[in-house]
Amino acid sequence: MTDIAQEMENMSIKEEDKLGTGDDDFIVNPWEVVSTSATGVDYDKLIKRFGSTKIDDALIERMERVTGKPVHHLLRRGKFFSQRDMHSILDMYEQKKPFYLYTGRGPSSDAMHMGHLIPFIFTKWLQDTFDVPLVIQLTDDEKYLWKDLTLEQANHMAIENAKDIIACGFDIEKTFIFSDLDFISNSPAFYRNMCRVQKLVTYNQVKGIFGFGDSDCIGKISFPAIQASPSFSSSFPEIFNGRSDIPCLIPCAIDQDPYFRMTRDVAPRMNCLKPALIHSTFFPALQGAQTKMSASDPTTSIFVTDSDKQIKDKINKYAFSGGGATVEEHKEKGGNCDVDVAFQYMTFFMESDERLEEIKKTYTSGELLTGFLKKELIEILQKLIGEHRQRRTTITDEVVRQYMTPRKLKFDYPPPTPPSEKKKKKKHKNTKAV
Ligand code: TYM
Repeated sequence: MTDIAQEMENMSIKEEDKLGTGDDDFIVNPWEVVSTSATGVDYDKLIKRFGSTKIDDALIERMERVTGKPVHHLLRRGKFFSQRDMHSILDMYEQKKPFYLYTGRGPSSDAMHMGHLIPFIFTKWLQDTFDVPLVIQLTDDEKYLWKDLTLEQANHMAIENAKDIIACGFDIEKTFIFSDLDFISNSPAFYRNMCRVQKLVTYNQVKGIFGFGDSDCIGKISFPAIQASPSFSSSFPEIFNGRSDIPCLIPCAIDQDPYFRMTRDVAPRMNCLKPALIHSTFFPALQGAQTKMSASDPTTSIFVTDSDKQIKDKINKYAFSGGGATVEEHKEKGGNCDVDVAFQYMTFFMESDERLEEIKKTYTSGELLTGFLKKELIEILQKLIGEHRQRRTTITDEVVRQYMTPRKLKFDYPPPTPPSEKKKKKKHKNTKAV
Protein backbone atom coordinates (compact mmCIF):
# COMPACT_ATOMS: atom_id res chain seq x y z
CA MET A 1 0.00 0.00 0.00
CA THR A 2 1.31 3.48 -0.93
CA ASP A 3 1.79 6.17 1.72
CA ILE A 4 -1.24 8.10 0.45
CA ALA A 5 -3.47 5.01 0.31
CA GLN A 6 -2.47 4.15 3.88
CA GLU A 7 -3.20 7.71 5.09
CA MET A 8 -6.57 7.76 3.31
CA GLU A 9 -7.45 4.42 4.84
CA ASN A 10 -6.54 5.73 8.30
CA MET A 11 -8.81 8.67 7.61
CA SER A 12 -11.66 6.41 6.45
CA ILE A 13 -11.59 8.05 3.02
CA LYS A 14 -11.47 5.71 0.05
CA GLU A 15 -8.84 5.95 -2.72
CA GLU A 16 -11.54 6.48 -5.37
CA ASP A 17 -12.71 9.61 -3.51
CA LYS A 18 -9.46 11.16 -4.59
CA LEU A 19 -10.43 14.25 -6.61
CA GLY A 20 -13.92 12.83 -7.12
CA THR A 21 -12.79 10.96 -10.23
CA GLY A 22 -13.37 7.23 -9.65
CA ASP A 23 -13.68 5.19 -12.87
CA ASP A 24 -16.96 6.69 -14.07
CA ASP A 25 -17.63 9.14 -16.88
CA PHE A 26 -17.75 12.23 -14.68
CA ILE A 27 -15.55 14.35 -12.39
CA VAL A 28 -16.91 16.23 -9.38
CA ASN A 29 -14.67 18.24 -7.07
CA PRO A 30 -14.67 21.84 -5.75
CA TRP A 31 -12.95 23.12 -8.93
CA GLU A 32 -14.36 20.99 -11.71
CA VAL A 33 -17.70 19.42 -12.62
CA VAL A 34 -17.75 17.63 -15.98
CA SER A 35 -19.60 14.68 -17.40
CA THR A 36 -19.47 12.95 -20.76
CA SER A 37 -23.23 12.27 -20.60
CA ALA A 38 -25.76 14.78 -22.01
CA THR A 39 -27.91 14.24 -18.90
CA GLY A 40 -24.99 15.25 -16.65
CA VAL A 41 -23.52 13.65 -13.54
CA ASP A 42 -24.88 10.26 -12.45
CA TYR A 43 -25.88 11.33 -8.94
CA ASP A 44 -26.66 7.81 -7.69
CA LYS A 45 -23.11 6.77 -8.55
CA LEU A 46 -21.76 9.96 -6.97
CA ILE A 47 -23.55 9.21 -3.69
CA LYS A 48 -21.86 5.81 -3.66
CA ARG A 49 -18.47 7.32 -4.46
CA PHE A 50 -18.71 10.00 -1.77
CA GLY A 51 -20.39 7.71 0.79
CA SER A 52 -23.31 10.06 1.56
CA THR A 53 -26.97 9.02 1.85
CA LYS A 54 -29.74 9.56 -0.70
CA ILE A 55 -32.65 11.70 0.50
CA ASP A 56 -35.62 9.35 0.49
CA ASP A 57 -39.39 9.81 0.87
CA ALA A 58 -39.18 8.85 4.56
CA LEU A 59 -36.83 11.78 5.31
CA ILE A 60 -39.03 14.22 3.38
CA GLU A 61 -42.14 12.97 5.20
CA ARG A 62 -40.35 13.34 8.52
CA MET A 63 -39.30 16.92 7.70
CA GLU A 64 -42.91 17.79 6.87
CA ARG A 65 -44.15 16.09 10.04
CA VAL A 66 -41.74 17.78 12.46
CA THR A 67 -42.04 21.26 10.91
CA GLY A 68 -45.74 21.05 10.06
CA LYS A 69 -44.93 22.64 6.65
CA PRO A 70 -44.58 21.30 3.10
CA VAL A 71 -40.94 20.99 2.01
CA HIS A 72 -39.38 23.38 -0.52
CA HIS A 73 -39.89 22.39 -4.18
CA LEU A 74 -36.08 22.01 -4.58
CA LEU A 75 -36.27 19.20 -2.04
CA ARG A 76 -39.53 17.75 -3.37
CA ARG A 77 -38.09 17.56 -6.89
CA GLY A 78 -34.84 15.90 -5.85
CA LYS A 79 -32.62 18.96 -6.54
CA PHE A 80 -31.41 18.53 -2.94
CA PHE A 81 -30.78 14.82 -3.18
CA SER A 82 -28.10 13.73 -0.71
CA GLN A 83 -27.37 14.18 3.00
CA ARG A 84 -25.25 13.27 5.97
CA ASP A 85 -26.83 13.04 9.47
CA MET A 86 -30.04 14.93 8.61
CA HIS A 87 -31.98 12.63 10.97
CA SER A 88 -29.80 13.77 13.90
CA ILE A 89 -30.66 17.41 13.06
CA LEU A 90 -34.37 16.54 13.03
CA ASP A 91 -33.93 14.73 16.37
CA MET A 92 -32.47 17.94 17.83
CA TYR A 93 -35.30 20.02 16.41
CA GLU A 94 -37.91 17.64 17.83
CA GLN A 95 -36.25 17.82 21.25
CA LYS A 96 -36.30 21.65 20.95
CA LYS A 97 -32.50 21.72 21.12
CA PRO A 98 -30.66 24.34 19.04
CA PHE A 99 -28.66 23.88 15.84
CA TYR A 100 -27.26 26.38 13.33
CA LEU A 101 -26.75 26.66 9.58
CA TYR A 102 -23.44 27.30 7.83
CA THR A 103 -22.90 27.96 4.13
CA GLY A 104 -20.53 30.04 1.98
CA ARG A 105 -19.33 31.57 -1.24
CA GLY A 106 -15.90 31.92 -2.86
CA PRO A 107 -16.05 35.42 -4.36
CA SER A 108 -14.46 35.05 -7.79
CA SER A 109 -16.62 37.60 -9.64
CA ASP A 110 -18.45 40.82 -8.77
CA ALA A 111 -21.79 39.15 -9.48
CA MET A 112 -23.06 35.69 -8.58
CA HIS A 113 -24.73 33.43 -11.17
CA MET A 114 -28.02 31.55 -10.91
CA GLY A 115 -26.25 28.35 -9.85
CA HIS A 116 -24.76 30.09 -6.80
CA LEU A 117 -28.25 31.23 -5.82
CA ILE A 118 -29.54 27.65 -5.41
CA PRO A 119 -27.92 26.90 -2.00
CA PHE A 120 -28.77 30.40 -0.75
CA ILE A 121 -32.45 30.19 -1.77
CA PHE A 122 -32.65 26.83 0.00
CA THR A 123 -30.74 28.07 3.05
CA LYS A 124 -33.22 30.95 3.38
CA TRP A 125 -36.04 28.39 3.38
CA LEU A 126 -34.22 26.33 6.05
CA GLN A 127 -33.69 29.45 8.20
CA ASP A 128 -37.38 30.46 7.94
CA THR A 129 -38.67 26.93 8.50
CA PHE A 130 -36.46 25.92 11.44
CA ASP A 131 -35.99 29.47 12.80
CA VAL A 132 -32.24 29.06 13.37
CA PRO A 133 -29.11 31.24 13.16
CA LEU A 134 -26.89 31.17 10.10
CA VAL A 135 -23.21 31.90 9.45
CA ILE A 136 -22.03 32.62 5.90
CA GLN A 137 -18.32 32.42 5.07
CA LEU A 138 -16.96 34.50 2.16
CA THR A 139 -13.65 32.87 1.26
CA ASP A 140 -11.88 35.87 -0.31
CA ASP A 141 -8.60 34.32 0.93
CA GLU A 142 -9.34 31.18 -1.11
CA LYS A 143 -9.95 33.18 -4.29
CA TYR A 144 -6.76 35.21 -3.69
CA LEU A 145 -4.80 31.94 -3.45
CA TRP A 146 -6.40 30.26 -6.47
CA LYS A 147 -6.98 33.11 -8.92
CA ASP A 148 -5.00 35.94 -10.43
CA LEU A 149 -6.40 38.50 -7.96
CA THR A 150 -4.94 40.92 -5.43
CA LEU A 151 -6.09 40.71 -1.81
CA GLU A 152 -7.96 44.00 -2.29
CA GLN A 153 -9.79 42.75 -5.40
CA ALA A 154 -10.83 39.50 -3.67
CA ASN A 155 -12.02 41.40 -0.60
CA HIS A 156 -13.97 43.87 -2.77
CA MET A 157 -15.73 40.96 -4.51
CA ALA A 158 -16.61 39.47 -1.12
CA ILE A 159 -18.43 42.68 -0.14
CA GLU A 160 -20.21 42.86 -3.53
CA ASN A 161 -21.27 39.20 -3.20
CA ALA A 162 -22.49 39.88 0.35
CA LYS A 163 -25.02 42.30 -1.19
CA ASP A 164 -26.34 39.56 -3.51
CA ILE A 165 -26.56 37.17 -0.57
CA ILE A 166 -28.36 39.70 1.65
CA ALA A 167 -30.81 40.33 -1.24
CA CYS A 168 -31.94 36.69 -0.80
CA GLY A 169 -33.73 37.94 2.32
CA PHE A 170 -31.88 36.43 5.31
CA ASP A 171 -33.05 37.51 8.77
CA ILE A 172 -30.64 40.28 9.86
CA GLU A 173 -31.09 39.36 13.53
CA LYS A 174 -30.11 35.73 12.92
CA THR A 175 -27.42 35.97 10.22
CA PHE A 176 -23.70 36.65 10.43
CA ILE A 177 -21.77 37.06 7.15
CA PHE A 178 -17.97 37.25 7.30
CA SER A 179 -15.05 37.73 4.94
CA ASP A 180 -12.12 35.49 5.94
CA LEU A 181 -9.68 38.35 5.27
CA ASP A 182 -11.52 40.70 7.62
CA PHE A 183 -12.71 38.33 10.35
CA ILE A 184 -10.11 35.67 11.11
CA SER A 185 -7.30 37.96 12.27
CA ASN A 186 -9.63 39.33 14.98
CA SER A 187 -11.00 35.99 16.10
CA PRO A 188 -8.72 33.92 18.39
CA ALA A 189 -11.35 31.18 18.81
CA PHE A 190 -11.67 30.68 15.05
CA TYR A 191 -7.89 30.68 14.60
CA ARG A 192 -7.44 28.11 17.37
CA ASN A 193 -9.86 25.72 15.63
CA MET A 194 -8.02 26.28 12.32
CA CYS A 195 -4.76 25.29 14.05
CA ARG A 196 -6.38 22.19 15.53
CA VAL A 197 -7.57 21.04 12.10
CA GLN A 198 -4.16 21.85 10.55
CA LYS A 199 -2.44 19.65 13.13
CA LEU A 200 -4.78 16.69 12.54
CA VAL A 201 -4.66 16.51 8.73
CA THR A 202 -1.46 15.46 6.96
CA TYR A 203 -0.14 16.63 3.60
CA ASN A 204 -0.76 13.16 2.19
CA GLN A 205 -4.40 13.36 3.21
CA VAL A 206 -5.13 16.76 1.59
CA LYS A 207 -3.17 15.64 -1.44
CA GLY A 208 -5.41 12.59 -1.64
CA ILE A 209 -8.67 14.48 -1.11
CA PHE A 210 -7.99 17.64 -3.15
CA GLY A 211 -5.27 16.54 -5.58
CA PHE A 212 -2.71 19.21 -4.57
CA GLY A 213 0.65 18.87 -6.31
CA ASP A 214 4.22 19.74 -5.44
CA SER A 215 4.03 23.15 -7.11
CA ASP A 216 0.84 24.29 -5.36
CA CYS A 217 1.49 27.13 -2.91
CA ILE A 218 1.35 26.26 0.78
CA GLY A 219 -1.66 28.58 1.22
CA LYS A 220 -3.80 26.17 -0.81
CA ILE A 221 -2.63 23.21 1.21
CA SER A 222 -3.76 24.69 4.52
CA PHE A 223 -6.92 26.36 3.15
CA PRO A 224 -9.25 23.37 3.85
CA ALA A 225 -8.76 24.03 7.59
CA ILE A 226 -10.27 27.51 7.04
CA GLN A 227 -13.39 26.18 5.33
CA ALA A 228 -13.72 23.48 8.01
CA SER A 229 -13.63 25.79 11.06
CA PRO A 230 -17.09 27.45 10.79
CA SER A 231 -18.57 23.93 11.21
CA PHE A 232 -17.75 24.16 14.95
CA SER A 233 -19.83 26.41 17.20
CA SER A 234 -16.72 27.01 19.36
CA SER A 235 -15.34 29.12 16.46
CA PHE A 236 -17.96 31.81 17.20
CA PRO A 237 -18.06 32.43 20.97
CA GLU A 238 -19.75 35.82 20.40
CA ILE A 239 -22.69 34.10 18.69
CA PHE A 240 -23.01 30.86 20.61
CA ASN A 241 -22.27 32.15 24.09
CA GLY A 242 -19.10 30.06 24.40
CA ARG A 243 -20.92 26.77 23.65
CA SER A 244 -18.97 24.15 21.71
CA ASP A 245 -21.85 21.65 21.52
CA ILE A 246 -24.26 23.31 19.06
CA PRO A 247 -24.65 21.08 15.98
CA CYS A 248 -24.21 22.53 12.50
CA LEU A 249 -26.07 21.82 9.25
CA ILE A 250 -24.36 22.76 5.96
CA PRO A 251 -26.46 23.27 2.81
CA CYS A 252 -24.28 23.34 -0.37
CA ALA A 253 -23.93 21.76 -3.79
CA ILE A 254 -22.18 18.38 -3.63
CA ASP A 255 -18.91 19.79 -5.09
CA GLN A 256 -18.07 21.14 -1.59
CA ASP A 257 -18.43 17.73 0.11
CA PRO A 258 -14.67 16.89 0.08
CA TYR A 259 -14.04 19.77 2.54
CA PHE A 260 -16.64 18.41 4.89
CA ARG A 261 -15.63 14.75 4.64
CA MET A 262 -12.29 15.96 5.95
CA THR A 263 -14.04 18.06 8.63
CA ARG A 264 -16.23 15.17 9.77
CA ASP A 265 -13.16 12.98 10.03
CA VAL A 266 -11.23 15.33 12.32
CA ALA A 267 -14.22 16.53 14.42
CA PRO A 268 -14.29 13.69 16.99
CA ARG A 269 -10.53 14.02 17.51
CA MET A 270 -11.11 17.71 18.33
CA ASN A 271 -13.92 16.83 20.75
CA CYS A 272 -16.28 18.57 18.35
CA LEU A 273 -19.52 17.49 16.70
CA LYS A 274 -19.46 16.35 13.07
CA PRO A 275 -21.37 18.79 10.84
CA ALA A 276 -24.49 17.45 9.07
CA LEU A 277 -24.90 18.16 5.34
CA ILE A 278 -27.60 18.54 2.73
CA HIS A 279 -26.35 18.52 -0.88
CA SER A 280 -27.81 19.85 -4.11
CA THR A 281 -27.27 18.79 -7.71
CA PHE A 282 -25.74 21.31 -10.14
CA PHE A 283 -27.62 23.99 -11.99
CA PRO A 284 -26.41 23.25 -15.53
CA ALA A 285 -24.50 25.57 -17.87
CA LEU A 286 -26.56 27.12 -20.71
CA GLN A 287 -24.80 24.72 -23.09
CA GLY A 288 -26.07 21.62 -21.25
CA ALA A 289 -25.69 19.39 -18.22
CA GLN A 290 -22.14 18.21 -19.10
CA THR A 291 -20.85 21.11 -16.97
CA LYS A 292 -22.15 23.44 -14.27
CA MET A 293 -22.51 27.21 -14.69
CA SER A 294 -19.14 28.91 -14.31
CA ALA A 295 -18.61 32.55 -13.33
CA SER A 296 -15.36 32.68 -15.32
CA ASP A 297 -17.17 31.95 -18.64
CA PRO A 298 -20.06 34.45 -19.00
CA THR A 299 -21.57 32.60 -21.99
CA THR A 300 -22.32 29.59 -19.74
CA SER A 301 -24.13 31.63 -17.10
CA ILE A 302 -26.95 34.00 -16.29
CA PHE A 303 -25.83 36.44 -13.60
CA VAL A 304 -28.06 37.98 -10.95
CA THR A 305 -27.05 41.39 -12.34
CA ASP A 306 -28.02 40.60 -15.98
CA SER A 307 -30.58 42.94 -17.58
CA ASP A 308 -33.89 41.65 -19.00
CA LYS A 309 -32.36 41.93 -22.49
CA GLN A 310 -29.22 39.99 -21.54
CA ILE A 311 -31.35 37.22 -20.01
CA LYS A 312 -33.47 37.00 -23.18
CA ASP A 313 -30.48 37.06 -25.54
CA LYS A 314 -28.47 34.47 -23.58
CA ILE A 315 -31.35 32.00 -23.39
CA ASN A 316 -32.30 32.41 -27.04
CA LYS A 317 -28.69 32.17 -28.21
CA TYR A 318 -27.04 29.63 -25.90
CA ALA A 319 -29.63 27.47 -24.08
CA PHE A 320 -29.21 23.94 -25.41
CA SER A 321 -32.46 22.66 -26.91
CA GLY A 322 -33.79 19.13 -26.62
CA GLY A 323 -36.17 19.84 -29.49
CA GLY A 324 -36.12 18.54 -33.05
CA ALA A 325 -33.87 20.13 -35.72
CA THR A 326 -36.91 21.38 -37.67
CA VAL A 327 -40.51 22.15 -36.66
CA GLU A 328 -41.65 19.08 -38.65
CA GLU A 329 -39.16 16.79 -36.93
CA HIS A 330 -40.07 18.24 -33.51
CA LYS A 331 -43.80 17.69 -34.14
CA GLU A 332 -43.12 14.16 -35.28
CA LYS A 333 -40.60 12.98 -32.67
CA GLY A 334 -41.22 15.40 -29.77
CA GLY A 335 -38.70 17.12 -27.47
CA ASN A 336 -36.34 15.58 -24.89
CA CYS A 337 -36.89 17.24 -21.48
CA ASP A 338 -33.96 15.36 -19.91
CA VAL A 339 -31.40 17.33 -21.94
CA ASP A 340 -33.36 20.53 -22.68
CA VAL A 341 -31.75 23.33 -20.68
CA ALA A 342 -34.84 25.60 -20.65
CA PHE A 343 -36.91 22.75 -19.19
CA GLN A 344 -34.18 21.84 -16.70
CA TYR A 345 -34.01 25.47 -15.49
CA MET A 346 -37.79 25.44 -14.99
CA THR A 347 -37.48 22.43 -12.70
CA PHE A 348 -35.41 24.66 -10.38
CA PHE A 349 -37.47 27.82 -10.56
CA MET A 350 -41.08 27.08 -11.54
CA GLU A 351 -43.11 26.66 -8.39
CA SER A 352 -46.28 25.08 -9.82
CA ASP A 353 -45.96 21.29 -10.16
CA GLU A 354 -49.09 21.20 -12.35
CA ARG A 355 -47.76 23.73 -14.91
CA LEU A 356 -44.38 21.97 -15.00
CA GLU A 357 -46.06 18.62 -15.67
CA GLU A 358 -48.20 20.15 -18.43
CA ILE A 359 -45.10 21.64 -20.11
CA LYS A 360 -43.30 18.31 -19.86
CA LYS A 361 -46.23 16.50 -21.48
CA THR A 362 -46.76 18.92 -24.34
CA TYR A 363 -43.03 19.39 -25.06
CA THR A 364 -42.39 15.63 -25.04
CA SER A 365 -45.31 15.04 -27.41
CA GLY A 366 -44.02 17.71 -29.82
CA GLU A 367 -47.04 19.96 -29.38
CA LEU A 368 -45.04 22.69 -27.56
CA LEU A 369 -42.14 24.15 -29.55
CA THR A 370 -38.69 25.11 -28.18
CA GLY A 371 -39.38 28.81 -28.83
CA PHE A 372 -42.43 28.77 -26.52
CA LEU A 373 -40.57 26.90 -23.82
CA LYS A 374 -37.73 29.44 -23.92
CA LYS A 375 -40.22 32.34 -23.88
CA GLU A 376 -41.84 31.03 -20.70
CA LEU A 377 -38.44 30.52 -19.04
CA ILE A 378 -37.34 34.05 -20.02
CA GLU A 379 -40.44 35.46 -18.28
CA ILE A 380 -39.76 33.43 -15.10
CA LEU A 381 -36.10 34.47 -14.92
CA GLN A 382 -36.72 38.13 -15.78
CA LYS A 383 -39.22 38.30 -12.90
CA LEU A 384 -36.97 36.45 -10.43
CA ILE A 385 -33.78 38.36 -11.30
CA GLY A 386 -35.67 41.67 -11.64
CA GLU A 387 -36.97 41.31 -8.07
CA HIS A 388 -33.50 40.34 -6.85
CA ARG A 389 -31.95 43.38 -8.61
CA GLN A 390 -34.57 45.60 -7.02
CA ARG A 391 -33.89 44.26 -3.49
CA ARG A 392 -30.14 44.65 -4.07
CA THR A 393 -30.50 48.38 -4.77
CA THR A 394 -31.96 48.87 -1.27
CA ILE A 395 -28.88 47.34 0.42
CA THR A 396 -26.72 50.16 1.74
CA ASP A 397 -23.15 49.92 3.04
CA GLU A 398 -24.61 50.33 6.53
CA VAL A 399 -26.85 47.24 6.07
CA VAL A 400 -23.82 45.23 4.85
CA ARG A 401 -21.86 46.42 7.90
CA GLN A 402 -24.63 45.25 10.23
CA TYR A 403 -24.76 41.71 8.75
CA MET A 404 -20.94 41.53 8.84
CA THR A 405 -20.45 42.65 12.46
CA PRO A 406 -19.60 39.78 14.86
CA ARG A 407 -22.38 39.94 17.44
CA LYS A 408 -24.85 37.96 19.48
CA LEU A 409 -27.62 36.72 17.18
CA LYS A 410 -31.25 36.62 18.23
CA PHE A 411 -31.30 33.12 19.61
CA ASP A 412 -31.09 31.95 23.15
CA TYR A 413 -28.05 29.78 23.92
CA PRO A 414 -27.69 29.19 27.67
CA PRO A 415 -23.99 29.40 28.65
CA PRO A 416 -22.10 26.09 28.96
CA THR A 417 -22.12 24.37 32.33
CA PRO A 418 -18.77 25.18 34.06
CA PRO A 419 -16.60 22.04 34.61
CA SER A 420 -16.91 22.38 38.42
CA GLU A 421 -20.74 22.31 38.12
CA LYS A 422 -20.54 19.27 35.85
CA LYS A 423 -18.43 17.44 38.45
CA LYS A 424 -20.90 18.37 41.20
CA LYS A 425 -23.81 17.11 39.14
CA LYS A 426 -22.00 13.82 38.45
CA LYS A 427 -21.21 13.38 42.14
CA HIS A 428 -24.81 14.09 43.03
CA LYS A 429 -25.94 11.46 40.54
CA ASN A 430 -23.47 8.91 41.97
CA THR A 431 -24.61 9.63 45.53
CA LYS A 432 -28.19 9.09 44.50
CA ALA A 433 -27.35 5.77 42.84
CA VAL A 434 -25.64 4.56 46.02
P1 TYM B 1 -18.60 28.72 -4.68
O1 TYM B 1 -18.49 30.20 -4.66
O2 TYM B 1 -17.96 27.95 -5.78
O3 TYM B 1 -20.14 28.33 -4.68
C1 TYM B 1 -21.04 28.88 -3.73
C2 TYM B 1 -22.15 27.86 -3.46
O4 TYM B 1 -22.83 27.57 -4.68
C3 TYM B 1 -22.75 26.18 -4.98
N1 TYM B 1 -22.68 26.10 -6.44
C4 TYM B 1 -23.68 25.62 -7.20
N2 TYM B 1 -24.87 25.09 -6.85
C5 TYM B 1 -25.68 24.65 -7.85
N3 TYM B 1 -25.35 24.72 -9.16
C6 TYM B 1 -24.17 25.26 -9.54
N4 TYM B 1 -23.88 25.36 -10.83
C7 TYM B 1 -23.27 25.74 -8.53
N5 TYM B 1 -22.02 26.30 -8.54
C8 TYM B 1 -21.70 26.52 -7.25
C9 TYM B 1 -21.53 25.68 -4.24
O5 TYM B 1 -21.61 24.29 -3.95
C10 TYM B 1 -21.61 26.52 -2.98
O6 TYM B 1 -22.55 25.95 -2.07
N6 TYM B 1 -15.24 27.23 -1.22
C11 TYM B 1 -16.63 27.62 -1.42
C12 TYM B 1 -17.11 28.69 -0.44
C13 TYM B 1 -17.53 28.13 0.90
C14 TYM B 1 -18.63 27.27 1.16
C15 TYM B 1 -18.62 27.02 2.56
C16 TYM B 1 -19.63 26.74 0.32
C17 TYM B 1 -16.90 28.35 2.09
N7 TYM B 1 -17.54 27.67 3.13
C18 TYM B 1 -19.61 26.22 3.14
C19 TYM B 1 -20.61 25.94 0.91
C20 TYM B 1 -20.59 25.67 2.31
C21 TYM B 1 -16.82 28.12 -2.85
O7 TYM B 1 -15.90 28.54 -3.50
O8 TYM B 1 -18.14 28.13 -3.27
